[in-house]
Amino acid sequence: KFTNSSRRWYSSPLCHYGLCIDVDGVLIKGSNIIPETKPALQFLNGRNSLNKKIPFILLTNGGGITEEKKAQQLSKMLDFPIKSCQIVLAHSPMKELVPIYYDAEILIVGGKNDNCRIVAENYGFKKVVLPSDILAWNPSIWPFSEVREDDLRWIRKRNFSNVKIEAVMVFHDSRNWGRDLQITLDVLRSKEGYVDTLASQSDLITRRIPLFFSNPDIIWSNDFPSPRLAQGSFRLALENLFEKTTGLKLKYELFGKPELVTYNYAQKMLVNYANELTGNHLLNRKIYAVGDNPRSDIVGANRYGWNSILVKTGVFQGEEIESQYSANHVADNILHAVKWMFHKE
Ligand code: G3P
Ligand code: MG
Repeated sequence: KFTNSSRRWYSSPLCHYGLCIDVDGVLIKGSNIIPETKPALQFLNGRNSLNKKIPFILLTNGGGITEEKKAQQLSKMLDFPIKSCQIVLAHSPMKELVPIYYDAEILIVGGKNDNCRIVAENYGFKKVVLPSDILAWNPSIWPFSEVREDDLRWIRKRNFSNVKIEAVMVFHDSRNWGRDLQITLDVLRSKEGYVDTLASQSDLITRRIPLFFSNPDIIWSNDFPSPRLAQGSFRLALENLFEKTTGLKLKYELFGKPELVTYNYAQKMLVNYANELTGNHLLNRKIYAVGDNPRSDIVGANRYGWNSILVKTGVFQGEEIESQYSANHVADNILHAVKWMFHKE
């Protein structure tokens, strides 16, 4: 007869599958924890009929802090240990841009204070400019916001007439849409990246400053009764402004769910973590994904050949959806989702 611990030892190497869990609208809503989250995490941690630990990572289109910080923040909030190797944030796969831009001046947009500069420098980018640095240099670039005394602690004021910005990366939600739309537009419309110059339409046809976004979501779910505008909405505003002011379409690259680049990255992270947890070096694990947003979590998982589970606790509330967004399974919440997966396996 197996004891609990021998059964755990015996059963965990047999776990041939893994799970990718979305955060907002699945585990939490703003600062509130969804009631089924804690029992679901315990279930994954071995409190199930086989005493089996089921490997999982968290894949979110949120971010704005380092993976280490997010792991600490969630561990504390959920009262459950989450390691940083279990965290994939919207901007995590943007590390892959470091070999191209590590030594170039890049404008990083979004997030609170200089948090996204810390993230970008942590990835290896060496010359990170924030919209606040530019505003502090010349406040008339956006006269409707002020630089607060307190912010001068982290702002890096320089003469931006001499700074050639070579790429723009939107890492997180803007905390000041007016300022960030204006400054991003200025850089994208500049001659060669000098923010106080303006390129002609023909210049822009031949040369563009590369632009990257970390999160395509138009909406997301927090503790407000209806969904909130996400980074994708900021992008729509920027696209419209760029088109109206230049007569040209905005060009950009996307990271985050449902983009393939993000799923490649997440798959590697999950397989590595699962191999470490189970001691079983499987290259091709069966992967399940739970999410609340059909247009990102479900489309992404389906495209990547994962098994998608849609929950009703966030953006999706159980309404009719078109077939391209439909999941392999619909569950009321995260606990029902993990139990369904477990019984299927
Ligand atoms: O800003 C975050 C949001 O767009 C989605 O986060 O965790 O639901 O992927 P998540
Ligand atoms: Mg979500």
